[in-house]
Amino acid sequence: MKIGIHDLEVATSHYVLDLDTLAEQHDIDPNKFRIGLGQDKFSMPAPDEDIVTMAAEAAQTLLERHDVSKIRQVYFATESSVDQSKAAGVYLHELLGLPANVRSIELKQACYSGTAALQLAINAIARNPEEQILVITSDVARYALDSGGEPTQGAGSVAMLISADPNLVEIEPGSGLHTTDVNDFWRPNDSTTPFVDGQLSLDAYLAATTAAWDDLAARRELSVDDIHRFLHHQPFTKMARKQLAAMAEHTGCELSDDLIEESMSYNRALGNTYTASLYFALTAQLHNNAELAGKRLGFFSYGSGAVAEFFTGVVQDNYRDHIYPQNVAKQLDNRVELTYDEYRELHESFAATSETFTTSKTTNAPFRLSGVTERQRRYEAQ
Ligand code: HMG
Repeated sequence: MKIGIHDLEVATSHYVLDLDTLAEQHDIDPNKFRIGLGQDKFSMPAPDEDIVTMAAEAAQTLLERHDVSKIRQVYFATESSVDQSKAAGVYLHELLGLPANVRSIELKQACYSGTAALQLAINAIARNPEEQILVITSDVARYALDSGGEPTQGAGSVAMLISADPNLVEIEPGSGLHTTDVNDFWRPNDSTTPFVDGQLSLDAYLAATTAAWDDLAARRELSVDDIHRFLHHQPFTKMARKQLAAMAEHTGCELSDDLIEESMSYNRALGNTYTASLYFALTAQLHNNAELAGKRLGFFSYGSGAVAEFFTGVVQDNYRDHIYPQNVAKQLDNRVELTYDEYRELHESFAATSETFTTSKTTNAPFRLSGVTERQRRYEAQ
């Protein structure tokens, strides 16, 4: 039985900052961001947006095409959680009118947990093939102002419907896994921004992803030549190029950048979307390449701390009939560009508080955070 990604949809935030603006204000050559990091812009949420509003929008667009009564579980993967107890996906039940007879949980392991959610969903469907699972990745990457990570901020969500006989990508059995305790990037409970050891994070990413490849190669008859295109977690798109070069050195195979080129267009414009980044890379590959039917994709998933997984999927024959690039274009083009002063003010005004507040109406998205009362987050449709 084939199990995999049946359909997917995306959402991002109301605002965007062009990295040329940041470069100009910080007296940095804009090519450091455009070429050195491979990034053009990053998305930034309005005060009435967060991981829940983006996830609800992505999931609503997705579910308009499907029968929600088949969904039995919602797995919400994020590392920018809005509550220490309540799973973010539970808010979607009210906002989207999901059935009550559905399990809803939240998963965390930095940028990796979207992949954990996908794999758990596939295992669950192997047991109950008539059911479907909604896997949501949604994150806001918010680094400290004037920090090394500042140009790699971002925001976005990818909602995926996982089922038997998928329309888009069958996920093949057999993953390569690697977990190691490393303090390359972490966010303690009392901090709204992460702590990062930049160089260590690059080294840890490369070491863990190649180790995950080795684990898979030891378990399956698979060589790099069997992979038609590679997809990566892209904290910034240059990282995918670095990883491919490391893989070429590690395996002794020649690996051209053509293997990853089509996967980077959305992440260049979004910034780091943490759990969603790998699945934006998948979305871009499916949208930008019309020759993928029957071809195998190799997915490199990485989450600091660190967990890495390498797994593969085969693109289904009629995938072009089930993709919606115009929806992504709309999400990217509709963003409102920030000036540098507006960006600084918005960043400085963010507070992870449960004190009562009301947000001013900013976003045009279908759902918004209206504020907090009695220490409870309030969302509304509009
Ligand atoms: P930095 O010190 O700002 O940048 O830190 P740099 O000096 O290393 O320069 C970056 C690149 O730009 C270099 O290229 C320069 O040569 C080039 P490279 O040598 O790497 O190929 N450059 C230029 N190119 C063209 N024209 C120019 C120019 N000037 C310089 N004029 C760093 C960069 C990534 C460390 C920083 O942005 C950072 O700390 N980011 C956050 C951490 C991060 O993203 N790490 C990635 C791996 S960890 C990960 O992916 C997990 C994560 O997503 C979190 C999670 O899992 O939850 C972060």
